[in-house]
Amino acid sequence: MKIGTPLSNTALRVMLLGSGELGKEVIIALQRLGVEVIAVDRYENAPGQQLAHHAHTMDMTDGPALRALVEKTRPQLIVPEIEAIATDALAQIEADGLARVIPTARATQLTMNREGIRRLAAEQLEIPTSRYAFAESQNELQMAIDGGVGYPCIVKPVMSSSGKGQSTIHQPEDVARAWDHAMSSGRVAQPRVIVEEMIHFDFEITQLTVRAFNAQGDIQTYFCEPIGHKQQQGDYVESWQPQAMSDKALARSRQIAKDVTDNLGGCGLFGVELFIKGDQVWFSEVSPRPHDTGLVTLVTQAQNEFELHVRAILGLPVDTRLREPGASTVIYGNHDQAGIAFEGIDEALRIPQTELRLFGKPEAFARRRMGVALAYGNGGEHHSTLDARQRAKLAANLVRPVPR
Ligand SMILES: Nc1ncnc2c1ncn2[C@@H]1O[C@H](COP(=O)(O)OP(=O)(O)OP(=O)(O)O)[C@@H](O)[C@H]1O
Ligand SMILES: [Mg+2]
Repeated sequence: MKIGTPLSNTALRVMLLGSGELGKEVIIALQRLGVEVIAVDRYENAPGQQLAHHAHTMDMTDGPALRALVEKTRPQLIVPEIEAIATDALAQIEADGLARVIPTARATQLTMNREGIRRLAAEQLEIPTSRYAFAESQNELQMAIDGGVGYPCIVKPVMSSSGKGQSTIHQPEDVARAWDHAMSSGRVAQPRVIVEEMIHFDFEITQLTVRAFNAQGDIQTYFCEPIGHKQQQGDYVESWQPQAMSDKALARSRQIAKDVTDNLGGCGLFGVELFIKGDQVWFSEVSPRPHDTGLVTLVTQAQNEFELHVRAILGLPVDTRLREPGASTVIYGNHDQAGIAFEGIDEALRIPQTELRLFGKPEAFARRRMGVALAYGNGGEHHSTLDARQRAKLAANLVRPVPR
């Protein structure tokens, strides 16, 4: 493995597609190793753009424009941070040997659409998932529910993330509203949804899984300790690590994570989302990249999920060891405004073993994630994350977003 000098003709150049808070941390990890970074996002001054060597603003779903930028800037590696990308263009770029797509172009194609990854997991790999069906009209949706999915169930546009367009259906009267909601907030104007049986899980986890080269030169699969999290309206509000679970459920989780990531291939870190009830495990979905709930690893692991991703994609050794328990709580904008400020940071940081990340997003929305409070240590309770969760929550609540 060789890394050159940034901004010279020996530079190792990496392009980030999406430069939000997760991309920003990937960029920091890359720059610590002297990698030249090109940060791309759909809006100006995205968090990662503020610190990369080069910044470009464009519509990343525009295939020809994406191809043109790659031809002009010549990155050796392309690292997607989001799902909404022209993945067909990425596949062509990879096929033409122009750049390597992380983890693989196929993985980005399969995971950008819920149908691709769900059919792969459930039908090809025969991994347990919720019962599901796809529908292209309100009538088809009703037939899918009556035909086996049942009540309660969850409807999601096949192309959407962060809970957009999702709703729960408890009874026939809810179907029309759920269909309309999905149609009004999908990523592309495609009338297609997945309807899933509601799983009554005890808790849900993200199993961070790394595919990286070992000392023998083979790709090996490494697992982080499971991350527990709480979601509100399909968006994560709180996460902690480790999540206690039975040996059987942990072994099943890791087998599922291995089966899915083996199939997706390539090198890098993946966030495998799983539902757990007792010893039972259901696969939900997977991000072929760092996961938002994994922000907690900024304070819990010897190498956080962003460093792990970077090491894996550069062919370097990884260490997924947990250093100590910890937790994260999301800080929202609370205002719809550009250029807001944050008060109470001093009070928040007075809480012991607590850190903050403020992402520097140019514009706030009430429910936009603007930062995260992180707490580590167990308060003397062996293996418990309760103490860290309380401190992270306290710190997040002390940070007050204020309008201009
Ligand atoms: N079949 C299900 N049964 C029970 N809960 C579910 C089911 N599907 C989704 N959920 C809940 O909704 C959350 C969001 O669902 P999902 O991960 O599919 O959406 P998403 O839009 O991809 O979210 P994100 O991009 O934040 O991961 C899940 O983490 C879980 O809490
Ligand atoms: Mg999810």
